[in-house]
Amino acid sequence: MGIVRKDWAIHNSIALSWSEVEQPPSDIVDYEVKYYEKEQEQLSYSSTRTKSTSVVVTGLRPSTVYVFHVRARTSAGYTAYSPNFEFATAAEDPDIADQGQVLVVVTASVGGFSLLVILTLFLLITGRCQGYIKARMKSEDKRTRFHSGHVPFSGIKTYVDPDTYEDPTQAVEEFAKEIDPSYICIDRVIGAGEFGEVCSGRLHKPGRKDIAVAIKTLKGGYMEDQRREFLREASIIGQFNNSNIIRLEGVVTKSRPVMIVVEYMENGALDAFLRTREGQFTVLQLAGMLRGIAVGMTYLSDMGYVHRDLAARNILVDDNLVCKVSDFGMSRVLEDDSESAYTATGGKIPIRWTAPEAIAYGKFSSASDVWSYAIVMWEVMSYGERPYWEMSNQDVILSIEEGYRLPAPIGCPVTLHQLMLHCWQKEYSQRPSFNNVLSFLDKLIINPSSMITQVNDALSFPDSPEEMPDYPLFISIGDWLDSIKMSQYKSNFLAAGYTTLDSIATMSIEDIKRIGVCLIGHQRRIISSIQSLRLQLHHIHQSGFQAQNRSNRALPHYRSN
Ligand code: ADE
Repeated sequence: MGIVRKDWAIHNSIALSWSEVEQPPSDIVDYEVKYYEKEQEQLSYSSTRTKSTSVVVTGLRPSTVYVFHVRARTSAGYTAYSPNFEFATAAEDPDIADQGQVLVVVTASVGGFSLLVILTLFLLITGRCQGYIKARMKSEDKRTRFHSGHVPFSGIKTYVDPDTYEDPTQAVEEFAKEIDPSYICIDRVIGAGEFGEVCSGRLHKPGRKDIAVAIKTLKGGYMEDQRREFLREASIIGQFNNSNIIRLEGVVTKSRPVMIVVEYMENGALDAFLRTREGQFTVLQLAGMLRGIAVGMTYLSDMGYVHRDLAARNILVDDNLVCKVSDFGMSRVLEDDSESAYTATGGKIPIRWTAPEAIAYGKFSSASDVWSYAIVMWEVMSYGERPYWEMSNQDVILSIEEGYRLPAPIGCPVTLHQLMLHCWQKEYSQRPSFNNVLSFLDKLIINPSSMITQVNDALSFPDSPEEMPDYPLFISIGDWLDSIKMSQYKSNFLAAGYTTLDSIATMSIEDIKRIGVCLIGHQRRIISSIQSLRLQLHHIHQSGFQAQNRSNRALPHYRSN
């Protein structure tokens, strides 16, 4: 790699470009730009990838010198790194700092507002407003630093797939520390993995306090590719540093047995944990567990990592009820998961947890992880119930295709079920991101009254649709229009006789025009909010009846459209 130049810099980003060496390799796949804060002396680094010879590195700290170097990835592996280049970010922009503060005030005041308004606002705001995104990025930088303990700076590391290394052992060396086996004391066997036993024990590093660990072992007589596959998980977990992702302590590769050592989680897998404690937690405690998982998944999706097997069985719980995402080894093949079944295209997939586009044509993404996350939400709120109960995988696929979705578990707040439904939208681009999910959960948690209304008592079990109380249960037409910044049309709606949210949910675009909404942008905004409203109203009506039928599972789920 030749010279790396700084094209421009602002307070949180630096644009770089570079020239090729005189005879560059012909088959460059992409470039890796590695960078770290100069003052941190490589305590931790971040990296990003680009297919062109330029990149904008974002998420940096203001007035800070960073060291950058670049290497190319070719089909034969990586080239050498360029020399180090040092560039500084600019000083903080006071205007943007102000925006961040305004946002905090606004979000705090929204806390007490109607539940439906929060959701609608959340749908509208999602990724649409530049100023909001900018300000939010700043507050999320802070959140990352706060939650991950000692992430030394806010640059977002990108996940490096160990399969891109010609020799996967190199990936293990780069991302996992070798542990001297004499520091490990194995106590007992706690389970069986695909490659060998899982044990609990203690790790005593000289000069450090003893810590409880779980030790995954590779059974003797393994083939070389089994060893590689086993250690692959370590080279993945070793790249993560987040309080809601299982922490890798290190590996033993230079002696037998080969081991992966991770932090010990006292309460084991989340599904089994909840099944033995049915009804023992408050909604707030359950929401706190879900928040933790959302923090971990936000971190993974920010790094560009797609889990593919997110399920309560793959979440571990510690003695403080902190939930951590685990089971990274199988993200490529999913062979080890007992829930995985073969699909028509030959892949092995845990059907009940997987988004339709991933089942149908292998489109795994953070959006398909969001779908699985909502299934985990459902597992948590139902204390480890099996999603879709005893239905066959084929019936699950068909029901989802027809628009049916899981109903709210008994005692589940309406707001949490609405979030699940939002994550189970067929069109994956319409689903919220993990960032959106996390901020929504944060709002519910700081305002626990938002979780008082449970689906089962929302309608006090009417006997027939005619007895269904009219909306608004939560919100007036005025509140709804305020929330989508269309208050100027309030009198148009009321004058035309639209006085309940139910009546509004029946409106077509023609009706909207007829009552005097002339601007196309306004028509679109109103109709898109009505579509979301329809989904929620339909669900609430259905779940009222479904609650009655709980003893007979003839109607275990309802149609979402
Ligand atoms: N089972 C698998 N991994 C575990 C861990 N880290 N802690 C406790 N039980 C486990």
